[in-house]
Formats: sequence, C-alpha cells, structure tokens
Amino acid sequence: MKIGAMRKAFITGITGQDGSYLAELLLEKGYEVHGSVRRTSTLHRSRLEHLYSDPELYGKRLFLHYADLDDPTTLRRVLTKAAPDEIYHLAGQSHVGLSFEIPESTCELTAMATLRLLEMIRDLPTPPKLFHATSSEMFGNPETVPQDENTPYAPVNPYGCAKAFAAQMVKIYRNSFGLFACNGIMFNHESPRRGENFVTRKICHAAAAIKLGLQNELLLGDTSAERDWGYAPDYVRGMWLILQQHEPDDFVLATGKLHSVQNVIEIAFATVGLDWKLYVKRDPRFMRPAEPHKLVGNPAKAKRVLGWEPTHTFEQLIAEMTQCELKALSK
Ligand code: GDD
Repeated sequence: MKIGAMRKAFITGITGQDGSYLAELLLEKGYEVHGSVRRTSTLHRSRLEHLYSDPELYGKRLFLHYADLDDPTTLRRVLTKAAPDEIYHLAGQSHVGLSFEIPESTCELTAMATLRLLEMIRDLPTPPKLFHATSSEMFGNPETVPQDENTPYAPVNPYGCAKAFAAQMVKIYRNSFGLFACNGIMFNHESPRRGENFVTRKICHAAAAIKLGLQNELLLGDTSAERDWGYAPDYVRGMWLILQQHEPDDFVLATGKLHSVQNVIEIAFATVGLDWKLYVKRDPRFMRPAEPHKLVGNPAKAKRVLGWEPTHTFEQLIAEMTQCELKALSK
C-alpha cells in the first residue's frame, strides 16, 4: 500500500450481521469499502440500508459488486479491479443445523469457495491480506476445555468439517506461498442484527412478540445446549486487529464463558416480564443429529497480542437484543 493512500477493503458477506458491522467500522476508520453481493429475487440488504442510502458514502467510499463465491471468474474480475489491501472473507452457508440438510452446497460455499479465493489472491499482482472467519464448530467434540489456537479440529457436522478444511487451507497458503492469511476462530457472536433462525435472536424475538400479543408460543430444540456467546461488534473489531499485526497468525475470539439456551430463555422472558414456562415448548424438528460439547474459547492470545477483550456480558447482550425486538415490533 502506498503511504498516505486510502486503504481499501473487500468484504465477502457484507450483507450479513458481521459484514454490516465490519463495513461500519472500516468506513469509520477511513477505508474505501467494497463488498460482494449475490443476485437474488429479493434484496437482502436491510443491515446495510443506512450506509447504502447515504449519498456521502455509497458510490464514493462504499461499493457493492454483484459477484458470487460460486462464480470465480466474476469474483476474480471484481477483485482485480478493486485491488483491495485487505480482504475479509465472511461469506458462506453459516447455519449448522441446515448443513445436515444441504451438506454439498455447504461444502461448496464454505470450503471450496475459500480455496478458490486463496487461489485468486495468490495470482493477484500484489496479494492483499486475508482474514478468514472460521468457527469454533471445527472443534466439534474437543478433548480439551477451553479450546485455543492449538486445539485439534474434530468437527461433528458438515459445516464444521467445511470450516476445518478452509481454515487448514488458509494455513497451508500462509506457510507454503507466503500469503498474509489469517484465521479468526470465532465462537458464537450475536446482536440485534443476527439472522432470525439462530437461537438467541429466535428467543429474543419470540419473547418480545409474545409480550405484544403477536405470537403464542416458542418452539425450540435442545435447550440444554451450551455455547460461548459474545457481542458481534467486538468480534469484527477483532477481525480488523488481526490484519493489523506484523505477522499473519490465527486467533480465537471468544468470551471464555459458557451459557445454555435455557439461560437465554430465562433472561429474554425476564426482560419482558413473562414466565417462560407458559410459552416455551420442545419441538423435535429443531433437534440436531449431533451436537458439539463444551465449545468454549480461550481468548488469552487475542488479549495478549491484539489487546482484544469483549465489552458486553452475556446478560447485557440478551437483554439488549430483547429490548431491540420490543422496540422494532412496537413500531
Ligand atoms: N437455531 C436454533 N434453533 N438452535 C437451537 C434451537 C432452535 O430452535 N433450539 C436449540 N438450539 C440450539 C442448537 O442445537 C445449538 O446447540 C445452539 O442452540 C446454538 O444454535 P445456533 O444459534 O443455530 O448457532 P450455532 O452454535 O449452531 O452456530 C453459530 O455459531 C457458530 C460459532 O460457534 C453460527 O453462527 C455458526 O455460523 C458459527 O460458526
């Protein structure tokens, strides 16, 4: 990058929860931000609307390009033209439960697409830095608790397996071809912008909808399942920090604390002043064929090297998500 030039970033998955927070952060930091969007029959850009509709940003420092991970020619062309300094690769099929239903496309979009992107980067005249968002799901049923950057991968679902392939490829391209390519091993991270079929948003939305008389019950799968849940804007800050280091490396981003789905239910319903026992029911349709166990991360390296720390407690996160649902549904 030339000294004094505006830094350019390219985000795959810019329309998602993390992509939208990351676009905001990079624009705030003065970057020119490019993102790839898929052509679909509906426009799924609500999380970007405030940036997209800002005439000072869109077409000046924010650019959206039609390009798909399964259309490498177009993606290669867009990347060559945009010539980013940093690529944040966030796109993929990110729903674990769904990956049992559509394992082939999950592997195409999550595993093979990452390999194709690495191949494109390798061919660019000045290879940009790459951040790859991988997942705690790679650890599956780990032998050690908590998990860190040295914990072996042992995925238990197609999604985790695809992520393990992609993360290992990132390491291979870093070690074999000298790319500045890094894995962020991301544990669950949530926000009011979370997709509605992920469990925290589903519960917070339902608690608010039941409170307002818009819904009668909440159907869930395994409520004893536990996760390490953090606040999404903290995790995108971590992504940026990872690419600002002198050497490429992998980092766990996590809170280090385990909570159950049941804990989410109790906080969300308490936030709206309802007794969850009257509304929550188990539905086998939401049970998964296999569940990982004790997925909880050790963020010590991120704290030591990046100075990264989570800002929100679990209780604050769930209460805030529920309040946001109440506000949105009341409109
Ligand atoms: N989605 C969903 N819906 N999950 C449910 C439900 C339900 O009705 N009932 C119970 N669960 C349980 C799931 O079985 C799982 O154990 C837990 O709630 C969390 O599920 P999700 O919110 O769907 O997230 P995830 O942990 O499977 O995956 C998320 O986090 C990963 C990082 O660890 C996703 O964001 C992945 O893309 C990400 O890699």
